[in-house]
Amino acid sequence: MTKPDETKTDSKKIQIKNMFNDISFKYDEINKMMTLNMDKNWRNIVYSLSMKDNPNKIIDIATGTGDIALCFANKGVNVVGVDNASMMLDLANKKKGSISNIKFKLEDAENMSFEDNTFDVATVGFGVRNFENLSKGLNEIKRILKPGKKLIILETAVPSFFIIQVGYFLYTKLIIPILGKIIANNQQAYKYLSTSAKHFPHGEEFKLILEKAGFENIEIKYLSLGVVNIYSASKPL
Ligand SMILES: C[S@@+](CC[C@H](N)C(=O)[O-])C[C@H]1O[C@@H](n2cnc3c(N)ncnc32)[C@H](O)[C@@H]1O
Repeated sequence: MTKPDETKTDSKKIQIKNMFNDISFKYDEINKMMTLNMDKNWRNIVYSLSMKDNPNKIIDIATGTGDIALCFANKGVNVVGVDNASMMLDLANKKKGSISNIKFKLEDAENMSFEDNTFDVATVGFGVRNFENLSKGLNEIKRILKPGKKLIILETAVPSFFIIQVGYFLYTKLIIPILGKIIANNQQAYKYLSTSAKHFPHGEEFKLILEKAGFENIEIKYLSLGVVNIYSASKPL
């Protein structure tokens, strides 16, 4: 488990919450820059995969400033976005404006207030890597999904080709923390984002974790030279 500041004793959950509250005001700007604007395309793929079975009730977990949730809402689909960092949600609520088919709620993804078997699709964009207890979070998502329905996860990965890996590590270890320092005045947060991305299981390893958590029909899409993956998995019937 990678924490933003390994020298501090407070829990990963507290550190992550404080970190995202701290960088919230610059999150979208840096996100666009560090993903070279590819984040929009990745979220649109999450949207398309989610809409395959014509879902009615969608939850976007670790919604942050709400971009995935807004993809659904802007197309008239009902969605709730949850996050445990209130300042990220404040920005999500600002972006939402007067759109009525979207709600944002302060919730801990590892212990949500929703009833069992509530949602037709759950999405998580760059969120599971930040959970304090990954298996608890995945079990909680499975609990609130209806049987047979899908979890779609967008998450960082490490490219497998050596040459691309070299460029990737230079970019994530050097450029991203510098961007974080200059734009959000928080080099530590963006160092954590790079380190956690390097150590977080991806590809077949993450597929095994999803299987262990009880999901089935797991598929992986490798995107943008392998720097991010999209996993889709179903809760058994
Ligand atoms: C990298 S941001 C991703 C935001 C958004 N999904 C996106 O695609 O831009 C990660 C988000 O996960 C949230 N998060 C981390 N752990 C969480 C938890 N246990 N419960 C709810 N949200 C959590 C953070 O507050 C943060 O907003």
